[in-house]
Amino acid sequence: MGLGIKHLLDVYSLSKDDVMYILDTADTFKDISTRDIKKVPTLRGKTVINLFFEPSTRTRTSFELAGKRLSADTINISASASSVTKGETLLDTLKNLEAMNPDAVVMRHLASGAAHFAAKHVDFAIINAGDGRHAHPTQALLDLMTIRDCKGKADGLKVTIVGDINRSRVARSNIHLLSKVGCDVSVCAPASMIPAGIEQLGVKVHYNIKDALDGADVVMMLRIQKERHGGNYFPTLREYSRYFSLNKDTIKYAKEDVTVMHPGPMNRGVEIASDIADGELSVILPQVANGLAIRMALLFLLAGGSRQ
Ligand code: CP
Repeated sequence: MGLGIKHLLDVYSLSKDDVMYILDTADTFKDISTRDIKKVPTLRGKTVINLFFEPSTRTRTSFELAGKRLSADTINISASASSVTKGETLLDTLKNLEAMNPDAVVMRHLASGAAHFAAKHVDFAIINAGDGRHAHPTQALLDLMTIRDCKGKADGLKVTIVGDINRSRVARSNIHLLSKVGCDVSVCAPASMIPAGIEQLGVKVHYNIKDALDGADVVMMLRIQKERHGGNYFPTLREYSRYFSLNKDTIKYAKEDVTVMHPGPMNRGVEIASDIADGELSVILPQVANGLAIRMALLFLLAGGSRQ
């Protein structure tokens, strides 16, 4: 069996079989990162370029490590240190990379739709590492993998996503992916941070964290994305935190064994209290470890890896 896609641009292009195949492949790669010699020859002779137009710690590092652990030649390009600063267009940048014959380009861009645009114009595989507010498919896949690890399943679980839903590509990708695998997804934020018509994606909308957490198996907290144009959506951070943060008082409304997630970077004391982020219900660092495994699986599946 192979994947039914050439590029990974979003989660809605994935069938449920594709999703399970990626997660199962990631499971087989997980132990490589715990060995003394953290390297296999799976992508020997392949070239992977990480092209990042926005800052990143987790996604960029894990894609670079994923490529290296699979023996690919891995190159990193930051827009701030590239010819983009001299006025080169995205298309010219991609065409120049294509002339060097890479097997895959992992791209993060501030514009929604940038990864789809790239995929229309190049021959190599494009992996979307986040485009504007639109999609962050590898984040949603690693989140699903983490939920499956913790709960043994995803189907039927109540997942509550709290925070800046409007500006969050993580929320959009998770809503689509988790709904696809049978989760009951709710979102919670001040009304100013809930996009119009989001109910049409099949989610329940809450404006009060206590209601939103009632019976939740999993809670996913999101950062306020001030960098994504738009002004303040609430009077003060203190007020936001008072009504929408996950802390020792609000977590009581969720199930006792609720799994606490955050894609990072966290703003401690704003959307999540430190004792919860570092507490025993938190899987924030296991999410990062699973991110590496998911990205190894995707590079293997899309950059033409061979188990031999
Ligand atoms: N979750 C996530 O995308 O983190 P980075 O921005 O650090 O990659």
